[in-house]
Amino acid sequence: MTDQGNELRTGSGSDRDDDGPAPRVRLRDRDNELRSVEAAVDRLCREFAAGGTEIGELLAFSGRPGIGKTSLLHEVRRIASMREGATVLFARGGERQFKEPYHVLRQLLQPVLTRLEADEFAQVMGTWEEVVGPAMGLKQPKAGARRLDPQGVRDGLDYVLTQLAPRRAPMVMIVDDLHWADAESLSWLAKFAVRSGELPVLLVFAFREDENDWPGETHELRRGVLDFARRKHELSRLTLNSVSDMIRAELGDRAEDAFCYEFWNVVNGNPFEAGRLLDQVREQELEPVEENSRQLRELAVDATGMTLKSWLDRLGPATLRFAWACAMLGTDIRIDLATRISTQSGEGARESIKQLRKQRVLTQAPNGNLEFVHPLIASSIYNTMPEATRLGMHGIAAVEIENAGLGLLAASRHLVETHSGEGDDRIVRKLRRAAVEHQLIGAPEAAQRCLHRALNEPPADDIKAEVLYELGCSALLTDPGATVNQLRLALDPDEGPLRPELRVDATFRLSEVLAHSGELGQAALVCQEEAEQTTDPVRRQRLQAASFMWHAFRKSEENGPGRSARLEELYRNLAGREAADRAVLVMRAWDLTLRGEPSTDALALADEVLDGGRLPKGLGWTDTTWGFELPSMLCLTYIYNDRIAQAERLAADAIIQFELAGWSGAHRGFAYFLMGLARFRRGLLAEAEDFLRRAYRISERIGAKLPLAWDAVGVLVDTLIARGRVDEAWELANEFGFHPPYHATVMVLPDAASLYGKLLVAKKRYAGAAAALTEAGAQLEVRGWHNTVWAPWAGHLAIAISADEPERSRDYAQKAVRDARTFGTASAIGSALRLQARIEDGQQAVELLEQAVEHLGQSPAGYEHAVALVDLGAALRRVGRLEDAQEHLYQGIELAQHCSAEKLVDRARRELANYGLRPNRLGVHDFRETLEALSGPERDVADLAVKGVPPQRIAERLGVHLSLVNRRLAAVYRKAGTGPDGLASALGLRPEPGAGPDEVSGLEPGEEPGEEPGVIPGE
Ligand SMILES: Nc1ncnc2c1ncn2[C@@H]1O[C@H](COP(=O)(O)OP(=O)(O)O)[C@@H](O)[C@H]1O
Ligand SMILES: [Mg+2]
Repeated sequence: MTDQGNELRTGSGSDRDDDGPAPRVRLRDRDNELRSVEAAVDRLCREFAAGGTEIGELLAFSGRPGIGKTSLLHEVRRIASMREGATVLFARGGERQFKEPYHVLRQLLQPVLTRLEADEFAQVMGTWEEVVGPAMGLKQPKAGARRLDPQGVRDGLDYVLTQLAPRRAPMVMIVDDLHWADAESLSWLAKFAVRSGELPVLLVFAFREDENDWPGETHELRRGVLDFARRKHELSRLTLNSVSDMIRAELGDRAEDAFCYEFWNVVNGNPFEAGRLLDQVREQELEPVEENSRQLRELAVDATGMTLKSWLDRLGPATLRFAWACAMLGTDIRIDLATRISTQSGEGARESIKQLRKQRVLTQAPNGNLEFVHPLIASSIYNTMPEATRLGMHGIAAVEIENAGLGLLAASRHLVETHSGEGDDRIVRKLRRAAVEHQLIGAPEAAQRCLHRALNEPPADDIKAEVLYELGCSALLTDPGATVNQLRLALDPDEGPLRPELRVDATFRLSEVLAHSGELGQAALVCQEEAEQTTDPVRRQRLQAASFMWHAFRKSEENGPGRSARLEELYRNLAGREAADRAVLVMRAWDLTLRGEPSTDALALADEVLDGGRLPKGLGWTDTTWGFELPSMLCLTYIYNDRIAQAERLAADAIIQFELAGWSGAHRGFAYFLMGLARFRRGLLAEAEDFLRRAYRISERIGAKLPLAWDAVGVLVDTLIARGRVDEAWELANEFGFHPPYHATVMVLPDAASLYGKLLVAKKRYAGAAAALTEAGAQLEVRGWHNTVWAPWAGHLAIAISADEPERSRDYAQKAVRDARTFGTASAIGSALRLQARIEDGQQAVELLEQAVEHLGQSPAGYEHAVALVDLGAALRRVGRLEDAQEHLYQGIELAQHCSAEKLVDRARRELANYGLRPNRLGVHDFRETLEALSGPERDVADLAVKGVPPQRIAERLGVHLSLVNRRLAAVYRKAGTGPDGLASALGLRPEPGAGPDEVSGLEPGEEPGEEPGVIPGE
């Protein structure tokens, strides 16, 4: 850990008051506020001592400049620091520093984080060290690091604070002048304020009430913070009594009441203004008597409205120049820097400081640095700088800061304020480097400021397009609209030449942004057009492949089969197995999958892409050459081809990789989506729902109705249907506009029209369903996409029209089965057969369902299997085979429970109960509330075993065979990862007294543990 030049500014309980800037002043008229503070600190400490953790609070103080916010916060610091064990963190915003990324959070967190021991630091950081570390200035970004997504930094900070707060609790976090907090800090603080109640943290904020005092872009965030300030105190002006006291303390008892009254009126009870006016009165040697009170107003104008001339009169040119240098630096002003920026000698600087302290402009902080006595004075001085002087001095400041070893990041705030129009190459280079550095700490907006400024310089003709390209890339993760324009400009020959390798990159980036904004056709087109102009074969192949990739996601492609043919040609001509070649393999595998060609072909290609089960070099999740779309496509291929575990490994890897890279936006959302889809296909519906909702939330955070949102909502609707929450699915689908006409160009996973039809079938609205599914079918057939798992329109259409058009209905059902057999996965065939059985009756249905169960039993599609079992049970019951019916229904119930398909469980139970069969052979209970890995029946056996009931008695109690009990026990032990003695604690239960391990032995001697029923078959 290195502390990059930022002084430790705060004290914690043990070493408080090392730098509290101001000597204590007696605070007048603040008894209420101080009582609130005392009470809040008391509560925090008391409740924490009593074991509470979710005890945080937010106190917010607002008011005009000079009313006493800062003074009050000093009292808060003092009060909190006196508490045993309390950690007090302090920071403040600066008018000149509000564009410095993480300026406030670094002040707040650096001191406490740098003081952690190495192992505690590691625990607090978790996996976020490479994200939070650089952003908080605790370490340099790793060599070769990529840009950080600001949302990733915020997620990381959430983690770090959740870890830190309980370790350093009770914790008081104080932020003064929040209105000047930099946007990066503020956007985290705004969210953190909302959840501060979940942690042992007292937040105390102070800010100016008047919105005019706020820098424009942070208005909304400020409101966000205010909304959650439970106790907001607006500081009132001081009373006449208090001001009179202040006057008399200074001028003696001779001050007359009428004078004091006028004085109070003139300063409007503002203590800062009172102090300034008192200075003037003293300077002018004005007698504090009634007849002099009329002069007060004039003196006050002088005291507050300082012009260039009045400052010059007071300070003289050299001192004023020093003051300007200080004003540019803002807060926590290093004397050596101010000296060099003001181009003064050490001697001259000392004289200036003396003057400025005498004139009550500056004070010296305990850490040796300078501070303005009040920000109003700093503003006043800064605003008197003639423009040319200001621009020039910012230039000097940038150089001096860099020379002082404080880095480009710190210097860049000044660089962007310097003269432009000189065409200075050096400045352009520096700004571009600063932009890169900002990207590495998750501050894309600051990076953009640097690049905009670089463009204004302007850069030389031959690198202008490159700067535009960098500008376009800087907003990739945050502002798609701006990115499109900038990248288009970068590619525009009128803006100057762009190096060929960058042209390809810029084109690909542009297509990516277009695609993720729903413009897939455009995305494909820009790649195609650029490919035609690209002579280098490798680059051309990359662009062609990208163009195919975007087309692959398009549903309304005019000549789908033709494109498939060309893709095949591209595949046949592949020379090697470089990343670009493998990219073609991925696209072909996915194309084959959608077309429903033999699954083995698609899988062979997919397997060829991987290196030992992992993504190959150049095609990783965070590789920028290809983006994450290709690995996603590969993952989808595995999902739809019944190789779900492989897909889950890839998706899990994606979640981790994106997290490490700090890409918490659309990337992580898409990884959650893939995982959700995999879980859905596996039949783990509760987990699927959870992942999909997370994906959806992320997409909402980024923008309205992105393709990601469509995908997530689509599969979520499907999941809800499976869980029997059809009305909820219906509402969600409609709320999202998931009905005709469908989203114009973007393919939705699963196919939107098929899904909508399926939903209508579930609602028994067959006419509407028939229309939707017919439309879906027509479109997909033309496109050449026959995959019945991805778009199960034919099977559902058969159900929708079975009553009115039995003949056509049979045709569709058979077509679906035929297509499924061509595709050839067990889940596809089983599901198609299951749907076909729905339109048949009697023995015919039984036979179809028996086949369906057999196929699905060999697939990972747990939910489909469960439905088929229950359907088969019902069909068997209808033909009078009650005993067989019962067995299948029981199995169906177990599996449905495992899938969290509650309504399916109910249906099967009803089926049993209606015919006098015992609905509860297994006495199962809700599996989700217990240990994740155990099925209901296993849990029942486990519960009894923990109570010391021997297997024979368990079998009797549950009404099942002893051998089944033993098999279940074996599964319990395997899953719980323990033997009989450790079972109780593994399940979080207390063993019954007297339960000896020998009484709960898992297996009969000599019996092999078998695969228990009711567990989803693996792959
Ligand atoms: N309650 C008070 N009673 C007396 N003097 C005060 C009080 N509050 C602030 N002051 C004085 O007023 C000046 C400005 O206060 P400050 O806290 O910096 O205001 P703000 O932060 O609201 O701009 C300081 O010099 C301080 O000593
Ligand atoms: Mg203040």
